[in-house]
Amino acid sequence: MKAITYQGVKDVKVKKVDDPVIDRDDDMIVKVTSTAICGSDLHLIHGMVPNMPKGFILGHETMGIVEETGKAVTKVKKGDRVIVPFPVSCGHCWYCEHDLWSQCDNSNPNGEVGAILGYSNTYGGYPGGQAQYLKVPYANVGPVVVPEELTDEQVLFLSDILPTSYWGVEQGSVKQGDTVVVLGCGPVGLLTQKWAAYMGAKRIIAVDYIGYRLAHARTYNNVEVYNFNDSDNTGEYIKEITHGGADVVIDCVGMDGKMTVIEMVESALKLQGGSKSAIEMSTQAVRKGGTVSMVGVYGARYNAFPLGDFFARNITLKMGQCPAHTYIPRILDLIRKGSFDATDIITHRLSLDQGEHAYEIFDEKKDNCIKVVMKPN
Ligand SMILES: NC(=O)c1ccc[n+]([C@@H]2O[C@H](COP(=O)([O-])OP(=O)(O)OC[C@H]3O[C@@H](n4cnc5c(N)ncnc54)[C@H](O)[C@@H]3O)[C@@H](O)[C@H]2O)c1
Ligand SMILES: [Zn+2]
Ligand SMILES: [Zn+2]
Repeated sequence: MKAITYQGVKDVKVKKVDDPVIDRDDDMIVKVTSTAICGSDLHLIHGMVPNMPKGFILGHETMGIVEETGKAVTKVKKGDRVIVPFPVSCGHCWYCEHDLWSQCDNSNPNGEVGAILGYSNTYGGYPGGQAQYLKVPYANVGPVVVPEELTDEQVLFLSDILPTSYWGVEQGSVKQGDTVVVLGCGPVGLLTQKWAAYMGAKRIIAVDYIGYRLAHARTYNNVEVYNFNDSDNTGEYIKEITHGGADVVIDCVGMDGKMTVIEMVESALKLQGGSKSAIEMSTQAVRKGGTVSMVGVYGARYNAFPLGDFFARNITLKMGQCPAHTYIPRILDLIRKGSFDATDIITHRLSLDQGEHAYEIFDEKKDNCIKVVMKPN
């Protein structure tokens, strides 16, 4: 089959690789109909996540048709159309049983954190879904059958960014009437703005520095937008226009945020796991006693992390990998009822063969790219 593979920093290639095969009785193989690139994939191709072997198959936002099932699989059958959540979860450990699917104790043979499809050996070493076929482990747990009347584009993002953005707003404890700042207008930030409105936020301020993404936020989400290049201190500016700071700041940026020169040096010296520009903004943009919900993914170590700024102002910090499984049924229900739609963020529909180009435009914010969906079969 064909798959998008990691070859080194800023180097992905579409290659012929071996078809996946069922090893365990509860594995299944999905023939992929749609797969997307995520901002998290950019951390991989920027070399920010350790233990990425050359040739590793990328991708954790995938859906398709069940092609083959191991003999213990009962949840789905050949021919079912399914979406596959990005965390790999066993379904019966303490963490899976307590809605912390992304911290499953059994799925990652290589470490303490839960496993993620297509996300390095550190996260379990499971080949990803930017491919013609995907092997899905624990097939009685993760995959969810989707109704025929919904298109791939309506449901594909249930695999990651729909639950992630919903969870980011929920973990921020957004309430009716709140002022919410969303840092980042990539796919995750744009959907976060929608959920914040859905959950009753009165004022939503979206921050980025890419003009076409800010324009998308304004047009489709009807939010206030702010280009952080317009000020030397965005956090202070937001504190001023919100009269003391937002109730909730949701960081949808992560370690590949825009870096200062000092940060570039610190990252190169491994003193810092990438940018913390969004964290610095959050310290000022949130009001005293407010909450910062970190959805953006961060690296291990941060020199000069502004802990005291959070401490002195009684800020609650919450973060982590989204336990996607918990949120899929309720969001699927909203999509089915026509109460929520995320398809406006799709700017590019490409074939898997165009994978290298797809990564380039998404990474370098070319051609007004927001979200790429690829059709491998
Ligand atoms: N926690 C989870 O479970 C989970 C799941 C999915 C994605 N993510 C993470 O969410 C983040 C966003 O994903 P995406 O697909 O939207 O990525 P993206 O790279 O398309 O979007 C990030 C946006 O942030 C903007 N930006 C950079 N620095 C900024 C700053 N200091 N302030 C405000 N905006 C800034 C960029 O211009 C870009 O538009 C990534 O870190 C990704 O890994 C986390
Ligand atoms: Zn993702
Ligand atoms: Zn588990």
